[in-house]
Amino acid sequence: MNPPAPKRLWQWFAHTRVGRSIFRVGLPQSNLERAQAMVSSILLHIQPAKVHRHSLKPGYTLGLGLVSLDLFFILTATGVLLMFYYVPSTDRAYQTMKDLQFVVSAGLLLRNMHRWAAHLMVLFVMLHLCRVFYTGAYKRPREFNWTIGVGLFLMTLGLSFTGYLLPWDQLAFWAITVGTNIAGYAPVIGPKLQFLLLGGHTVGQEALTRFYALHVIVLPGVAALMISVHLWRVRKDGGLSRPEEPGDVVEQRPLEQLPVNKSYGLMELARGTTPQVGIDPQDEIFSWPHLVFRELLLFLLVSAVVLFLAIFWNAPLEEFANPIHPPNPAKAPWYFLGLQELVSYSAFWGGVLVPGLLVTALVLLPYLDRNRGGVGRWFARERVVANTIFTICLLTAIVLTIIGTFFRGPNWGWVDPWKPTPVQTEGH
Ligand code: HEM
Repeated sequence: MNPPAPKRLWQWFAHTRVGRSIFRVGLPQSNLERAQAMVSSILLHIQPAKVHRHSLKPGYTLGLGLVSLDLFFILTATGVLLMFYYVPSTDRAYQTMKDLQFVVSAGLLLRNMHRWAAHLMVLFVMLHLCRVFYTGAYKRPREFNWTIGVGLFLMTLGLSFTGYLLPWDQLAFWAITVGTNIAGYAPVIGPKLQFLLLGGHTVGQEALTRFYALHVIVLPGVAALMISVHLWRVRKDGGLSRPEEPGDVVEQRPLEQLPVNKSYGLMELARGTTPQVGIDPQDEIFSWPHLVFRELLLFLLVSAVVLFLAIFWNAPLEEFANPIHPPNPAKAPWYFLGLQELVSYSAFWGGVLVPGLLVTALVLLPYLDRNRGGVGRWFARERVVANTIFTICLLTAIVLTIIGTFFRGPNWGWVDPWKPTPVQTEGH
């Protein structure tokens, strides 16, 4: 039977001179060629030649890290295209938003895709963090990768927050005014940090210039670098976490030794520990095609969802920013609304203590948690204490965010969300 047309086309291309110069091996037919396909192309070389079956179980990672990565790619692509039109000036920024809507071909679609992908990325990075926590995947030898992850979480918030100002409408102006005020509550450094961010005491041209530079160069550059290290560490830490198997010696090793629960490792050869040469790695399958195709499929799915959202829902654009006309209430972006709710009770608690403690606790978590058990399984019983504490913090954050989003109206007073209020804040 003849293979299907796309496969035939690929086979033909992969065997042409150009195809061979890029892919080296044609469409892999044997195990040797499957391994060669992985190690001979730069894209595939980022992946290991073989992965453990457990890592491919959709119910384990839920693909959340990959979805975050796909969203980062989509944001970079749409962001670069938006840069062809956008001008970071208080006089022209708002007009370029209108041009995108009414003049530029597919401009609105581009802006919508960028906006919804940004919200989704914040959400999916948070979900990925929760998955890593609930499966105990931050434990040895992945402590440092968790710490990089916390940095990526902050980067994601920073990217979304700095982008929020760029449309220069009422929503942008006042969300950033409120958000930077929260930062200003920190003792000693707070006002200085606020001044540094805004380039002055109020949100104006200096703030727009700084936010733009941070949004298009500094933060994406640092995030891209950190993501590369993050993914490289996943490989160096022996692939994704999984439940311990007989033969795995990870738990008994002294701290300074490298992981040996993978099929081979050059460093281990150099250090003289026992590589598992001759022992067939348990339950591993070839990344080509099993992992690579799943990753491509997920990327297509994420792109389709973002496109769908962008076609049917428009990114909000309110009136031109007016510094003397604050909306009442002026709300921060949704991911800071929990903090804004806390700030309404105590500026010090919401602006300083709680965010400071949360970030410190997240960074130190893998080093403080001495319980070695329950890695690689969701909600393992051995981790009931840690899981309970984390769930209480998570639920508190969700409840505060829901209150801040739906139950707060003019002057931050309580409102009934089912009764329309005179001033509606949209699009958070
Ligand atoms: C821009 C944000 C991020 C991206 C693009 C990203 C990407 C990924 C990917 C693709 C994986 C492997 C597959 C998967 O687990 O889905 C992974 C694993 C991992 N991530 Fe992230 N991540 C991000 C943020 C975070 C955060 C916020 C944390 C935690 C604070 C974190 C901690 C980890 C850890 C510890 C692993 C290894 C998990 C295991 O071995 O089971 N990452 N990440």
